[in-house]
Amino acid sequence: MSDTDQQKIKQLRKDIERHDYYYYVLDNPEISDREFDHLMEQLKELEAKHPQWITPDSPTQRVGGQPADGFKSVVHKVPMLSLDNTYNIEELRDFHNRVVKSLGTGAVEYVVELKIDGIGVSLLYKKGQFFKGATRGDGKTGEDITENLKAINLKTIRSIPLTLPMPEAEYDLMEVRGEVYMDRTGFETLNRRREEEGDAPFVNPRNAAAGSLRLLDSRITASRPLNIWVYGVGQVPATWPALTTHYDMLKRLNIMGLRTNSNTHYCKSFDEVLSMVDEWQEKRSTLDYDIDGLVIKVNSFDQQKRLGWTNKHPRWAVAFKFEAEEAETVVEDIRVQVGRTGAITPVAELTPVFVSGSTVSRATLHNEDEIERLDVRVGDRVVIIKAGEIIPKVIRVLDKERKGREPKYQMPKTCPECDSKIERPEGEAVWRCVNAACPAQLKERLLHFASRNAMDIDHLGTAIVDQLVDTGKVKSFYELYDLQLEDVSTLDRMAEKSAENLIGAIAESKKAGLARLVFGLGIRHAGQRVAQVLAQTYGSMDALAKAPYEDLEAIDEIGPRIAESIREFFGEKHNKKELCKLKQHKLVMTEEKKAGGGSLEGKQLVLTGTLENMTRDEAKRKIIEAGGRVTSSVSAKTDYVLTGTDPGSKLTQAQKLGVAILSEKEFQEII
Ligand code: IVH
Repeated sequence: MSDTDQQKIKQLRKDIERHDYYYYVLDNPEISDREFDHLMEQLKELEAKHPQWITPDSPTQRVGGQPADGFKSVVHKVPMLSLDNTYNIEELRDFHNRVVKSLGTGAVEYVVELKIDGIGVSLLYKKGQFFKGATRGDGKTGEDITENLKAINLKTIRSIPLTLPMPEAEYDLMEVRGEVYMDRTGFETLNRRREEEGDAPFVNPRNAAAGSLRLLDSRITASRPLNIWVYGVGQVPATWPALTTHYDMLKRLNIMGLRTNSNTHYCKSFDEVLSMVDEWQEKRSTLDYDIDGLVIKVNSFDQQKRLGWTNKHPRWAVAFKFEAEEAETVVEDIRVQVGRTGAITPVAELTPVFVSGSTVSRATLHNEDEIERLDVRVGDRVVIIKAGEIIPKVIRVLDKERKGREPKYQMPKTCPECDSKIERPEGEAVWRCVNAACPAQLKERLLHFASRNAMDIDHLGTAIVDQLVDTGKVKSFYELYDLQLEDVSTLDRMAEKSAENLIGAIAESKKAGLARLVFGLGIRHAGQRVAQVLAQTYGSMDALAKAPYEDLEAIDEIGPRIAESIREFFGEKHNKKELCKLKQHKLVMTEEKKAGGGSLEGKQLVLTGTLENMTRDEAKRKIIEAGGRVTSSVSAKTDYVLTGTDPGSKLTQAQKLGVAILSEKEFQEII
């Protein structure tokens, strides 16, 4: 188990949550959708590698955003799922190959549409009358924005017809779906006006559209340059005219008075799809509205039906996302950031520049070697790209434009947060701050301690931890347990009730038990599984603290690196004091040993697919409690593959290797 993977997962979740908030709640994202998608992809990959770390609240386990206050909720009877993304021709070809394989024929027609960078909406018609409109929301529940959609109609003359023609006028219910967007010209005019009136300008047209659609006063929405492109349907009666293809359906929607995009292409073959992709990479900038890619849809309804859906997206459609744009800007400064283990990461402060949908003012430089490789210096003109990094990245320096006086960059000699010594261990690229009490590290450690798989202290998030550390109220884990109601109720944006909840959650965490506590302490290389094994082997913190290196190393699953790190941890004076204080606070520091071993004692399991009655995290916990362990990939050593719906390639691999396959029901019986 690698410490860095776990750190990465945590960091990614934190970042994704923050970006979700900026996107869905503030309508003001800091990063482009493409970059957001990349974060999700990275998280999914890491979670696939370490399924034991998948928690029910991980962003990968959700479909999307959250309804804002102030609008009624609308449940989408047919969920508004999203599209799977491809980022290059290879991935697009894989999609086509999957389609061909699954249909058993190469005769597939496609429709290529523009992927409009706006807000997905659903329009509901009763007996041909528009009566309700909603945002996509989290895909299952959106916000009722009927009045605002009617307001768009006032402004745009008929882009959302209020009445449908026959035969649709007779249907009890007809649902149309599309994307509300703001064109670039309208966006610029709106922003100019806002600036004149002293209002903050919108970051990009998509956010302007989102913000305008979710205004509580629809008169203001009516003054915003919004419009809609319609691309599909939701609930429709079975008797809808004998349409057999997506392309014909778009034509019908157009005849019904709905605004369909004329840059939609019918493609007889996949080769034609590829030419469309080429064509639009070039042409996208000529449009007066933003698109973030293309959508490729299988044309035949019959084939669509045969291909079906996963629980997140259709198998008959895919998005092709365009390459990240490059942009040039100037490095105004190079600063460093400090993480949980003290890792020091250099970051370039840039002259703000607009790229891929948002303004960028920082870019990661990763580490000292990367700075060397790029030879980036303060004052340099550089090219940046948003390519799946948490913050964008400098890809090259335009050194020909150097004036000649820029000095080579030197990493700091001490920690910028606490001024302690920094070290670069041999063979590593990273410099680390050696001070365990460094406030920047402390914040990250507290967040780990409080995390769900550790002490599970609800309500103890970044904003609170920052304040607790900055005000000096908490300098180590045990000081969390010293906190009184008045210490927290005086923090920024902390209501009385939330303060009570937090104090309650902290007190409750004392019962978390030895395994969670060992994990929460953040001993290097000791992940969740190791913590469980240690708790089971030693039964108490006292026994563990005294365990000699040789004993630790003799335990199955614990190698020399972990054993050494455990010894080092318990040998440190600072940690001894911490444990002594935690004991005084009456934290449970024992774990009952399982008598005679559990039903999965010594067994290795791999999880694949979605389980019906438990999350992967719960399943993992149960496996560990029953004495088993979870690994990420299937090998000859695997004893069982626990399989849910939509299993991945792990199932095929298990079948190939003859590994026993367990259904959820069988698993439950065993445990
Ligand atoms: S089809 C199940 N077509 O992209 C298929 N979506 O990630 C659902 N979008 O939520 C969508 N342009 O809001 C489709 N031509 C287009 C689109 C489009 C933009 C948005 C839509 C959806 C998201 C999918």
